[in-house]
Amino acid sequence: MSLITAYFVFLCLYLDNAYAGKKHYDRESRYMPPNTSNYCYYPERKIYDWELTPIEYCKRPCDGKPKLCHITLYIEQFTTYGVACLGCPEIMENCFKYGCISANGYPRAIISINRQMPGPQIEICQNDTLVVDVVNIMHESTTTIHWHGLRQMDGNQYYDGVPYITQCPIPPGNKFRYIFKVTECGTFWYHSHTGMQRLDGLLGALIVRCIFEPLKYLYDFDNISILIIDWTLHPARTLVSGFTIHKQNLSPETILINGRAPHYNESSQKYLPVTVFNVQHGKRYRIRIIGTCSYTCAYAIQIESHPVTIITLDGGHKIKPIGCDTVIVNAAERFDVILHANQSSDRVYLVLVEGVGNCKNVKSYAVLRYNNKTVNFKETELKYRTMFPLKYNRVRILHSFKLAMLLKQLVLRQDLKKKKQRIFVL
Ligand SMILES: *[C@@H]1O[C@H](CO)[C@@H](O)[C@H](O)[C@H]1NC(C)=O
Ligand SMILES: *[C@@H]1O[C@H](CO)[C@@H](O)[C@H](O)[C@H]1NC(C)=O
Ligand SMILES: *[C@@H]1O[C@H](CO)[C@@H](O)[C@H](O)[C@H]1NC(C)=O
Ligand SMILES: *[C@@H]1O[C@H](CO)[C@@H](O)[C@H](O)[C@H]1NC(C)=O
Ligand SMILES: *[C@@H]1O[C@H](CO)[C@@H](O)[C@H](O)[C@H]1NC(C)=O
Ligand SMILES: *[C@@H]1O[C@H](CO)[C@@H](O)[C@H](O)[C@H]1NC(C)=O
Repeated sequence: MSLITAYFVFLCLYLDNAYAGKKHYDRESRYMPPNTSNYCYYPERKIYDWELTPIEYCKRPCDGKPKLCHITLYIEQFTTYGVACLGCPEIMENCFKYGCISANGYPRAIISINRQMPGPQIEICQNDTLVVDVVNIMHESTTTIHWHGLRQMDGNQYYDGVPYITQCPIPPGNKFRYIFKVTECGTFWYHSHTGMQRLDGLLGALIVRCIFEPLKYLYDFDNISILIIDWTLHPARTLVSGFTIHKQNLSPETILINGRAPHYNESSQKYLPVTVFNVQHGKRYRIRIIGTCSYTCAYAIQIESHPVTIITLDGGHKIKPIGCDTVIVNAAERFDVILHANQSSDRVYLVLVEGVGNCKNVKSYAVLRYNNKTVNFKETELKYRTMFPLKYNRVRILHSFKLAMLLKQLVLRQDLKKKKQRIFVL
């Protein structure tokens, strides 16, 4: 076993070196995709580039006609609140410019995907084949992508993204094609499985809609996702170097909701925009909450004046719909909830997030507004300061959570029995 591992590691290192001099990008053009062949082999079949559907066309009503969905992810060393944000927030539209990742208003080294953080949201249908070209244009780090929640059965294990175990890490200047059929449906996400790159922002949502969705009658729209990212002002490698005693209870400094957190500077009167979710009055929304967080804390999420109904957990595990005011997510968990936009449309509402336990001082918010109502970020900021600590009924949450975990186990056990497959947990 160790011999095989050693050989594999050796092979990876050998490949690392072999490719070191072969950069596939140049300084002038921002992205220079590697020039590879125009087809690839996928189980014993040739897939030509012209058969691939660009990812934006894969977001569609799921009719059971599978597509080969293609996206290219450029992994790049980048920064929050960098030059693209120049003028933000005085010139508000600059905060939304391509390449401006305003985060919490401070520059900080990150790893971006296509100059976005979180990376592009991938939306496909069940039974589509996902073809993802990951181009590593970082200067010094290798990388891999893990598709969190997908079981990657039947030959897909080579695309699980665990470096040195299921694949060689992708060296700087190189491309790797992930290609696998997605037979499960539900809310998933993707992130780097190399080192602590995930804490530096290398993550995104992966939504797989079901061909047959029995819960569809519960909602009108399925186009809101909430990514909870716990965030520090310093890159991950400076945080855990040596892991000294005073760093054992690491707590993030803030929480980014879809990449944005409030930033308020009284002396300069600066209010950064936070994420705004737009809803139409009277409609019901399926909201996909994804705990893309990394620290040990859980986070409580409450949408002001809007109780929600939880319908699925951790991907496609359906539960008996359960109403609640507060959803508590731990690292990597997903909750799909229904929000009924039936409150007064004259005002905006806050989507509040607060750390639980050790992280109870970490807070953040986004805005829920009706019918494109304009948002005054100074007003929302002042209001948000009055809303904590969040009040919630822990017993009920615990109860529904326990129930959910039980159901999850039952579902998993059933699957295992039926398919007689083994699962190796790394
Ligand atoms: C890619 O490589 C092929 C074959 O080596 C070559 O004919 C083609 O011109 C190259 N394309 C680009 C854009 O460099
Ligand atoms: C997905 O494809 C498999 C064949 O690869 C088929 O057996 C299955 O029924 C399909 N799933 C759905 C929901 O259509
Ligand atoms: C607030 O703004 C002032 C004036 O622009 C600046 O000097 C100060 O550093 C800022 N404070 C923070 C915490 O960003
Ligand atoms: C969701 O989709 C509906 C209908 O296409 C649209 O009116 C609404 O603005 C969308 N909401 C968001 C948050 O994208
Ligand atoms: C709003 O919707 C929720 C969930 O469907 C429901 O429980 C509540 O009674 C509704 N409130 C109003 C004012 O219609
Ligand atoms: C909200 O704004 C978007 C984009 O500006 C527009 O497409 C949409 O129709 C607007 N919705 C309403 C209800 O005004």
